Amino acid sequence: MNPKFLALLAVFSFAATADTVGYRGEILYFNANPAKDKNATIHYKDGYLIVKDGYIAESGDYAALKDRPVDSTVDYRGKIITPGFVDTHVHYPQITMISEYGEQLIGWLNTYTFPTEIKYSNHQYASQEAAVFLDQLIGNGTTTALVFATSSPVSVDAFFEQALKRNMRMISGKVLMDRNAPAELLDTPQSAYDDSKALIEKWQHKGRLDYAVTPRFAPTSTEAELKIAGRLLREFPDVYLHTHLAENNQEVAWVKELFPASRSYLDVYAQNGLVTKKSVFAHSIHLDETDYKVMAGKGANIAFCPTSNLFLGSGLFNLDKANQYNIAVGLGTDVGAGTSLSVLQTMDEAYKVTQMRKAFTDKPEAVTSLTPLENLYLATLGGATVLSLQDKIGTLAPGKEADFVVLDPLAGKLLTGRNSESKSIEETLFGIEMLGDDRTVAHTYVMGNKMK
Ligand code: GUN
Ligand code: ZN
Repeated sequence: MNPKFLALLAVFSFAATADTVGYRGEILYFNANPAKDKNATIHYKDGYLIVKDGYIAESGDYAALKDRPVDSTVDYRGKIITPGFVDTHVHYPQITMISEYGEQLIGWLNTYTFPTEIKYSNHQYASQEAAVFLDQLIGNGTTTALVFATSSPVSVDAFFEQALKRNMRMISGKVLMDRNAPAELLDTPQSAYDDSKALIEKWQHKGRLDYAVTPRFAPTSTEAELKIAGRLLREFPDVYLHTHLAENNQEVAWVKELFPASRSYLDVYAQNGLVTKKSVFAHSIHLDETDYKVMAGKGANIAFCPTSNLFLGSGLFNLDKANQYNIAVGLGTDVGAGTSLSVLQTMDEAYKVTQMRKAFTDKPEAVTSLTPLENLYLATLGGATVLSLQDKIGTLAPGKEADFVVLDPLAGKLLTGRNSESKSIEETLFGIEMLGDDRTVAHTYVMGNKMK
């Protein structure tokens, strides 16, 4: 036989046989929201996750699955295996201006954000920062994110190129903004349409990538541009709509001035066909009862961004209300207004927001303190649901893409002290959520590949 052919055969058979791996450890994920369904939590204390060709083949008790044929087993006993984290709202061009002092939303955008975003029309710079951003996500256990680029199409190309290289499931898009920002960042309704269409045709469904039509927020787009966004959604029904909504009181008042004919901020988007089941609205803090009803009726989704909302002093998101209306909610880090790319640190602040709500209501007993299980749900299947990706990611059920993380409940001396006497998975998990960071994420797997 031709030696070259034999060598090729050896390579292929190695690739095939190396592809089924069993991971033994404590497994935790959800098949529904544990706040609403008492059977939602799937927990195997001594569990086994079998991954084949990048997909989850089986997951369950080790004792039941231990005789399944695998090529190798990795021993993660003492660690917790959960789905990779989903960040439903973050800005990659803002990683270098994270944590800038002293402003609330509008002042913060003008002083820090817009000058920084101008730099991203340079492909080399944008690529370099996109690479840093994605590697930070992996370090923090985030395997999927819905990501703002800038108004420059170059920033979108650079981001998607880097995401494709890492085979990560990422969603992004060119920011639409044609007013109320520096000239270097402004597009026109026509260029917004042409550039977005070209980017959708280039990137939508390439590898694991998806496209989001991304008007920054109502104050930076004219009505004509919001109409263009609606037209793009009609022409490309698969793409997402990603924007900000009702984050800050001054912003809400400004929208009322700019769009006097609209009933509310949400209504500005609704009137232009931008409220759909593939819409993700970051923040959604200052809404009224009709807004919640409209959102629920359209199946629209919310990104709850606690570190950002506290940092900019924007307000306290009402998770109970969203749950009451069955509106899907996920967690967003919202860096650079958010102060961490870590979804674990975001869970910490999410809990504190629900605690703080009790201080500002006549009926504190009616406010739910976010439970450890619901918090992890928001970070995994909740986020996946917000992104209509619940059939692909967000759980460790057979057939799903093998994006998962391995958490170390004893990472560092503080967590070791906190968790070594822990009596339940909820207690351990809560310790991880309040105290964890990138050190707690021992490993991150993307489609079965170990990236950390
Ligand atoms: N609203 C409009 N643009 C932004 C942004 O970049 N960050 C946040 N947090 N809110 C916004
Ligand atoms: Zn944002």
